[in-house]
Amino acid sequence: MATNRTFTMIKPDAVKNGYIGAILEKIQTAGFKIVAMKYTKLSKGDAETFYAVHSERPFFNDLVAFMTSGPIVSAILEKSNAVEDFRTLIGATNPEEAAEGTIRKLFAGSIQENAVHGSDSDENAAIEGAFHFSGREIF
Ligand code: PPS
Repeated sequence: MATNRTFTMIKPDAVKNGYIGAILEKIQTAGFKIVAMKYTKLSKGDAETFYAVHSERPFFNDLVAFMTSGPIVSAILEKSNAVEDFRTLIGATNPEEAAEGTIRKLFAGSIQENAVHGSDSDENAAIEGAFHFSGREIF
């Protein structure tokens, strides 16, 4: 059964381009409640651990370098069917393939600088949320 939480990061490109407010507005307008949120910066070790599942992929080093290039906003979001509905809201990983009106279509520049992360399963949403937040930071 689908859980009601997902995990997201507003990535360094979107932060740098001044899109934090616009992206959070899209998220809240779509019915997601923010139950945890922080403005932070990943260390190299943080990014390598977070993206460890992709460590054998050719873009891994580029992905880690990009995700540590500047601050991010990380958040846990609550809504029924959260993981699937959030993936629909953000659109395809590659913004060129993202549907009109999706966050990546509106705010992303490339498959690497793609504005936001969204968990791909309930299991990963729980793991990723716990990586970024302690229990007392979740409301
Ligand atoms: S997904 O969403 O997991 O199905 O997407 P996937 O294609 O597997 O990509 C996983 C993450 O890697 C990033 N990515 C890349 N970064 C740099 N260069 C290239 N070529 C590239 N391809 C994919 C992509 O933005 C995904 O990041 P997250 O944060 O998981 O969305």
